[in-house]
Amino acid sequence: MRLSVIGCGYVGLVTGACLAAAGHEVTCTDIDTERIRRLQAGEVPIYEEHLEEILKSAREAGRISYTADAGEAIRAGDAIFICVGTPPKESGEADLSAIDQVARQIAEQARSPKLVIEKSTVPARTGLELQRALAAYSSGGKSTFRVASNPEFLREGTAVGDFFHPDRIVVGVEDESAAADLREIYRPILERKFHCPVHKGTCPTSHDAAFLVTTINSAELIKHASNSFLALKISYANVIADLCERIGADVKEVTHAMGLDPRIGGQFLSAGLGFGGFCFPKDVQAFIHLAASVGVDFDLLKATERVNKQRIDRFLEKVRKALWVVRGKHVAVLGLAFKANTDDIRFAPALEVVKRLLEEGAIVHATDPEAISKAKTLFPRVTYHEDPYEALRGADAALVCTEWEIFRNLDWKRAKPLMARGLVVDGRNLYSPKHMRELGFEYYSFGRA
Ligand code: UGA
Repeated sequence: MRLSVIGCGYVGLVTGACLAAAGHEVTCTDIDTERIRRLQAGEVPIYEEHLEEILKSAREAGRISYTADAGEAIRAGDAIFICVGTPPKESGEADLSAIDQVARQIAEQARSPKLVIEKSTVPARTGLELQRALAAYSSGGKSTFRVASNPEFLREGTAVGDFFHPDRIVVGVEDESAAADLREIYRPILERKFHCPVHKGTCPTSHDAAFLVTTINSAELIKHASNSFLALKISYANVIADLCERIGADVKEVTHAMGLDPRIGGQFLSAGLGFGGFCFPKDVQAFIHLAASVGVDFDLLKATERVNKQRIDRFLEKVRKALWVVRGKHVAVLGLAFKANTDDIRFAPALEVVKRLLEEGAIVHATDPEAISKAKTLFPRVTYHEDPYEALRGADAALVCTEWEIFRNLDWKRAKPLMARGLVVDGRNLYSPKHMRELGFEYYSFGRA
């Protein structure tokens, strides 16, 4: 099929690349003309595993193209995926002005009927507003567009794998024809007729995706309800960690045992510095706001958000308690990205940690496998090191902020003599307290003795 993708951020670029890899003809556009220029030149503006290789082969096969002219992109596709940002306003409400802009462009630029698909995370009822906007901006006030919602469940870092091996594909539609078109778009994925860049043709067969057809309102709600529930799970584990510290229990033992119950599940129960990124924090806020706007008080989510914010305070309390005086201390921050396997630092807990350490007068050295160049623009006063052992050289404390494998496998025996003081405050519970103490470290983590 001929598809258009509006917005070449994480979601748009991964969606466009994967749909092209699955055999469709994709035209991508973005208001960021520099980004389009780089994509046209074969550069990949974000770090995401496998993205570069699938973009390259789609490009060589002539299945993906980029244009800064939104009108051209809109006219090229029979179906248009809207993948623009919906950032939070001051109030927490999602800012939908980019969606509105795109609706206007589609209505003005399209020359034939289109299926307009919301992929951006939006509050419930946005589809209805989108349909109204498309009609309002169309000549004669009558829309020839069908609207659908197709939320994404891609995690940064594993987005390409998630796209090709989804648990579920949710399509919110108003009529059967839109569901049929979306089924056709996802047919290569549902029938596994694509070359998987992750497994190279050896994909596990046990995992069949459910194709769920719902109303548009339900599809939109499914997305917010899913992300918020995962965030809630993390905050729950973090409160259990606080309890473990007071009582003298081990949060890893507790959450491991809890997770073996399939009704609970073991994922997203890792206690630590809490959740960050451009999805959970803003989606939780937007969901609280949406609930309030229809008279539902989502107290549970307000607590989720509050607990998450407290993680940074708790972490810094541990740092202060261990260091006594923070001012003038050399602190090595291990990890800047909001989680492992991404260069994304948006709403990363590590950034708040760095900011507060600088405010308190610490001398901050930082390392991250992918996120240094992005962090540099925010914190020019920090000294950055590609090599974690260099960040640790002369440090009074090592603070683990992101769960990168390279940090999990760090040779602390080698690091110890490099450091001025053997102190590790682990915000991601990566190491065994017993092992670290055996190596002679003063070691603090979350929810463990
Ligand atoms: C999240 C969802 O997992 C995706 O399904 C969804 O599609 C995406 O948001 C989105 O809405 O676009 P992502 O933001 O990439 O994906 O990150 P996650 O892997 O979910 O992690 C979020 C945060 O939670 C990270 O800061 C991570 O370190 C933290 N986390 C995760 C914990 O603190 N504990 C855990 O047990 C798991």
